[in-house]
Amino acid sequence: MFTIVKKVELAEGIKEFEVEAPLVARKVKPGNFVLVRGDARAERIPLTIADSDADKGTITLVMQEIGKGTTKLGRLNEADALLDVVGPLGKDREITGKGKTICCVAGGLGVAPMYPQTRAHHQAGNRVISIIGARNKSLLFWRDRMEAVSDQVLYSTDDGSFGYHGFATQLLEDLIIKGEKLDEVIAIGPVPHMAAVAKCCKKYDVPVVVSLNPIMVDGTGMCGGCRVTIGGKMKFACVDGPEFDGHQVDFDEMLLRAKRFEDEEQKSLRLWQEAHDCKLDR
Ligand SMILES: Cc1cc2nc3c(=O)[nH]c(=O)nc-3n(C[C@H](O)[C@H](O)[C@H](O)COP(=O)(O)OP(=O)(O)OC[C@H]3O[C@@H](n4cnc5c(N)ncnc54)[C@H](O)[C@@H]3O)c2cc1C
Ligand code: FES
Repeated sequence: MFTIVKKVELAEGIKEFEVEAPLVARKVKPGNFVLVRGDARAERIPLTIADSDADKGTITLVMQEIGKGTTKLGRLNEADALLDVVGPLGKDREITGKGKTICCVAGGLGVAPMYPQTRAHHQAGNRVISIIGARNKSLLFWRDRMEAVSDQVLYSTDDGSFGYHGFATQLLEDLIIKGEKLDEVIAIGPVPHMAAVAKCCKKYDVPVVVSLNPIMVDGTGMCGGCRVTIGGKMKFACVDGPEFDGHQVDFDEMLLRAKRFEDEEQKSLRLWQEAHDCKLDR
């Protein structure tokens, strides 16, 4: 059983779970994810492995409640168990080089999946500048963790409640304009965030890697649910990614495909909320 040994509410609707999964903890590499099911009737939810402890045999997952599946998972507490945790899945991210300057641009929940990559670059001897954007101050989390593995951290909030008043992409553009030579930018967050970072990087000819989050079903390359177009070619994010060259991604298609079950998703959440006598304004 995959017992939840620790649960922390990081911000409204954002939960951190430390889960017993010794085999996964032993093999995980930056960029890997797991498919999680809370119970036998639940859909599989892909979640990035945000941290792990091979000695304790645990992995850390950070999850934002946005639909029925994540809302149900968010109700689980310490000592409850997940039914299955399949992984580590996805291609390992090879963190190479020394003395490079890497800029990690995380949007919203993207901070958690960004953390293992940031730490790996820091440990490899690269200089890391992190840019973290959120809607407001209360949604910023893991600042201490990111500051511990970055040479510099810049913050932005959409409402100006903390750091720069505006989007993280503006901070990135300012850095480039000021003459910061970035060897690679990594963008993780909502699709519009990654698309905007990729657009900025294209303007200044800076390499960019994005971590795509299409709808996934089996996570093994068989169902086609996570199909994305990269450089005009069909790829499956679960086995070919989830990380890709941001300059090659067809973000418009991704956004369209992410909305294809929107009506069913909203109905399913509403019915579940009615059955459980709760209401979420999301
Ligand atoms: C490789 C990968 C890693 C991920 N890592 C994390 C993570 O670490 N933490 C986390 O909170 N979430 C992560 N996600 C997103 C997470 O899997 C989805 O939010 C979740 O599956 C939604 O399920 P639901 O039943 O709650 O919502 P649904 O009812 O399925 O959908 C509700 C709303 O969310 C949108 N949505 C559905 N699936 C996704 C998706 N895969 N990504 C983004 N939006 C989606 C829908 O368009 C809809 O508007 C990851 C996704 C992938 C593919
Ligand atoms: S999730 Fe089925 S092919 Fe990727």
